[in-house]
Amino acid sequence: MLAGCDQGGSEKGGVRKAEVGYVPASPQRQGDPRKGYEALLNRSVVTCGLPYAAYVEMRGSEADPGPQFPGRVGRNAELPYMLTSRIAPSGVEIVTSNCLACHAATIEGQLVMGLGNAFLDMTVDPLIGVETAGAFVKDSPAAAEWRRWADRVAAIADYMMTDTVGVNSGRNLTLAPMAHRDPETLAWSDTPLIEPPPKVPLPLSVPPWWNMGKKHALFYNGEGRGDHVRYMILASAICTDSLEEVAEIDAWFVDVRAYLASLRPPKYPFAIDRGLADQGYAVFQDICKGCHGSYGEEARYPNRVVSLGKVKTDPEVARRGFSDADRFLEWLGRSFYGELSRAAPALGYVAPPLDGVWATAPYLHNGSVPTLAALLDSRLRPDFWRFDREGDDQPAYDESRVGWAYRALDEGKSGAMSWDERNRIYDTGLTGYANQGHTFGDDLTDPERSALLEYLKTL
Ligand code: HEC
Ligand code: HEC
Repeated sequence: MLAGCDQGGSEKGGVRKAEVGYVPASPQRQGDPRKGYEALLNRSVVTCGLPYAAYVEMRGSEADPGPQFPGRVGRNAELPYMLTSRIAPSGVEIVTSNCLACHAATIEGQLVMGLGNAFLDMTVDPLIGVETAGAFVKDSPAAAEWRRWADRVAAIADYMMTDTVGVNSGRNLTLAPMAHRDPETLAWSDTPLIEPPPKVPLPLSVPPWWNMGKKHALFYNGEGRGDHVRYMILASAICTDSLEEVAEIDAWFVDVRAYLASLRPPKYPFAIDRGLADQGYAVFQDICKGCHGSYGEEARYPNRVVSLGKVKTDPEVARRGFSDADRFLEWLGRSFYGELSRAAPALGYVAPPLDGVWATAPYLHNGSVPTLAALLDSRLRPDFWRFDREGDDQPAYDESRVGWAYRALDEGKSGAMSWDERNRIYDTGLTGYANQGHTFGDDLTDPERSALLEYLKTL
């Protein structure tokens, strides 16, 4: 019976749910990573957006686009990296958002491809920005483009707002539009066709892309099986209205997937005590390798989903993916997206590869643990905390604790003096935000833990 509990697999309504344990590889369509990089930077995966003329009026033509990736060409070279220009079928140039709003970020002044953005503010109603932009839209074909975009954002806005700056509601970006589409034709319906996801999104930390070459399944609960491309392009579901449109995106995304699978993590930019790291290697081999694999010349990654009963981290994301989502899995199965891919949510979490883990704070699927030091010793985890930063500046990088500088607080959100302060507090008492579990480092001695921390910097 106990073993049965730990398995967490079942079959219901024709939807196959996953056992915990080993995730087998699925065949992937081969693509060209170099072409994938160019396409990721210059082609629109989301096909609706703000007319360019209105964008310029709103932002001013001299606005600094900020840091840029090499290889952005034409108009894109003038736009911030998370925006892409596209000529809509109406002939109107529009500015669309791309994957990099969530999947790129700067660390130590370096813009890093694939690093999850830990500071994105999703507490704001996205419709406010859309409506503000609308005031700058003038002529009629542009107004029609703006309207299409505004209607789509309006349909999903209520599902996107998080309680806390930095946590991500990216799952609902996919699930909310699914509820509005006919799975077979992808035709949009203003009223939902199936029950939409719960309005309050569960908090997620955006995982780094550079692990995609190792991971057999996408997502924290190991749900994304089969062809990875079909799953990735679901992130564009807000505007992809027809089978022709999705097939076109699918064709060039084969190269994007190949590029993501070729990504490597950034190297730790500060000094590493090699002697200490060598001692940490021994500790890692002893207690961490079974789930997280080995690195360097002997690299091997076990691709394992660990049951909730074993990892004991916040269960909400896995539970919701497993039990509430049957309708979404069925939708997927009937759609173009599900022709090659398959959803298999497990009651557990994937033990991720730890390559470049120094850069991916805050830790765990919900970003509840601010540093690696606190991940390795659960007694150090703050119940209430916020990043230590002025306004929207990035916090300093904390080399000793490995992660972004933070301040532990005496009270959670209820103690906040303003709305802004409230939104910046990570409160582990909220549903989905708990920092429990993964106590595998707790029984180590302090010297063992420091050695292990040093070793983790080398990955
Ligand atoms: C609004 C933010 C957001 C946007 C935009 C976004 N993602 Fe994600 N992405 C996430 C979050 C959050 C997760 C984690 C979801 C989970 O595991 O349940 C994720 C997970 C992934 C993963 C799986 C990583 C892993 O280790 O399992 C891939 C691959 C991915 N996204 C690719 C893309 C691509 C390609 C695009 C653009 C088409 C995109 N994403 C757009 C937020 C976003
Ligand atoms: C029984 C399997 C298991 C063992 C043993 C284990 N882990 Fe994990 N680890 C996991 C799982 C599963 C997760 C994902 C949990 C989640 O996100 O809720 C995880 C997450 C992590 C993360 C967070 C990664 C991120 O980017 O958020 C780090 C770091 C980590 N483990 C390090 C270690 C170290 C170091 C050890 C050895 C002391 C260790 N783990 C032992 C299963 C394990």
